[in-house]
Amino acid sequence: MTKHAPLKLDKPVVFVGLMGSGKSTVGRRLASHLGIPFSDSDTEIEIAAGCSIPDIFEVYGEAAFRDVEQRVIERLLSEGPQVLATGGGAFMQAASRQLILDQATSVWLRAELDVLVERTGRNNKRPLLNNANPRKILAELLDKRNPTYALADITVNTTDEGLNATVQKVYNALVDKTQHEKRGSQEKP
Ligand code: S3P
Repeated sequence: MTKHAPLKLDKPVVFVGLMGSGKSTVGRRLASHLGIPFSDSDTEIEIAAGCSIPDIFEVYGEAAFRDVEQRVIERLLSEGPQVLATGGGAFMQAASRQLILDQATSVWLRAELDVLVERTGRNNKRPLLNNANPRKILAELLDKRNPTYALADITVNTTDEGLNATVQKVYNALVDKTQHEKRGSQEKP
């Protein structure tokens, strides 16, 4: 991506969206471009729990996972400007969503079903998709979750355009939003 004057962020940037939308990959690259830390809530949950996400689901169940997820997100958001990739279900939980909407700039990475199916098929680390028909599950999740992901501050459509192009789109959207907010505050009496 092209070089720009650094964007000064006063709060975290949080990626939301379905499994396979590229939250961690895009988030990590964006953080390196911005020169700020990157974290991934799933990785932090695994560290806190001392076991893998599939094991947490199997041993403790999804409700326990969501509970830890919320606490991890709350902690990470309190750590200042950074890029945070959340697991696909985090923004669906009212408490986690509210934390993100209140304390961060949220970015929904929106991808078509085919892209999600292809990307999530590369490994079996996602307990919700470990069944006979992951495409059907993803299609259902897409219908159910997209209206909620649409509450994010910024929506960026991702295709198979390549990582740098997606990162550039997110960067441009963040610049637009920052300039818009600056103009808004200057217009206030
Ligand atoms: C989940 C998404 C996963 C992970 C867990 C549940 C979901 O994260 O948090 O398997 O509910 O969509 P990714 O979106 O990073 O795959």
